[in-house]
Amino acid sequence: MSTKRILTGIRPTGPLHLGHYIGALKNWVELQNSGKYECFFLIADIQATTTHAGAPEKLKENIKQVVLDWLSVGLDPQKSNFVLQSQIGERHELTQLLSMVAPYNDLLRNPTLKSELKKQEDATVGFMIYPLDQVSDIFMIANTPMQSDDEILVPVGDDQKAHIEFANRVARRFNSVYHTDLFGQATAMVGKIGRLVGTDGKEKMSKSLGNCINLSDPAEIVASQVKKMFTDPNRIHGNEPGDTKNNPVFIYHRAFNDNLAEVADLTARYQAGTVGDAEVKQKLVIALEKFLVPIRAKRAEVEKTADIQAILEEGTQVARLHCQQLTKQMRQTMGLVL
Ligand code: TRP
Repeated sequence: MSTKRILTGIRPTGPLHLGHYIGALKNWVELQNSGKYECFFLIADIQATTTHAGAPEKLKENIKQVVLDWLSVGLDPQKSNFVLQSQIGERHELTQLLSMVAPYNDLLRNPTLKSELKKQEDATVGFMIYPLDQVSDIFMIANTPMQSDDEILVPVGDDQKAHIEFANRVARRFNSVYHTDLFGQATAMVGKIGRLVGTDGKEKMSKSLGNCINLSDPAEIVASQVKKMFTDPNRIHGNEPGDTKNNPVFIYHRAFNDNLAEVADLTARYQAGTVGDAEVKQKLVIALEKFLVPIRAKRAEVEKTADIQAILEEGTQVARLHCQQLTKQMRQTMGLVL
């Protein structure tokens, strides 16, 4: 029987926001609920320490918050495995073993890593090898050996595509160096993923820019963030025709307002110059509240009832068992046995 597995991850660096929802979570929930895959959702806590070191209490809190965010949008530990990266000792071993065949020059050429390194003055060794560590995240849940009709699908944003290609090169390299077919290939799933601009219209929501709306934000914060939102910068008076295509408020309407007739009406009136920003924003607040109220309710419920530790332990154990098989087989293949 062939297996179809999904593996994807997120770094626990702060509360998840609407950008995470549109760019990842919405798709993950659909994949989970399709019932077609065995899903592994990974909290990349080791990877978080490549950029957010030195704050253990904060990290622990962030991990807990990610689980609550996941539960509140409908990821379900009864259907999916929630995996805590740091808790699988064999996963670290996998990185070490793979590092012996992973081409160093590939890392240096990795475009995502390169652009991230430019932003960091004193990048660590751990940061340099995070793409390799991510190869371990992906392959640790593979069957040993991976069968030709097994699939590992990795839903990620565009920026992660190079990492998946790297993972596949490392896997092929291991197979070729050791004349084995232990590893198969992983497939990036990039098509369906959207991207949401920040409330200021900047390319991405990010905590440091203060342009986020978090899934856990209360109604007052949502309203005040929307009030501050950027619209069409060229529309100085409220009664002139405005752009709706690149206008963040309209981008959000299209992403979150399920009242399609209202969105069409606002769009037409905005383009004609017969509606002001205030009304468009006010209706966005209503639409966002409609979206967020059930998420908040679910969060309030799981905050009381969910055993976060047990959820993580259970999901992590499933990944650990796969990973133990793989590393054991690798050690034998590589001659690393007594
Ligand atoms: N690098 C990803 C990010 O920053 C998180 C991640 C860690 C991941 N391990 C992964 C994504 C494995 C996909 C597969 O968002």
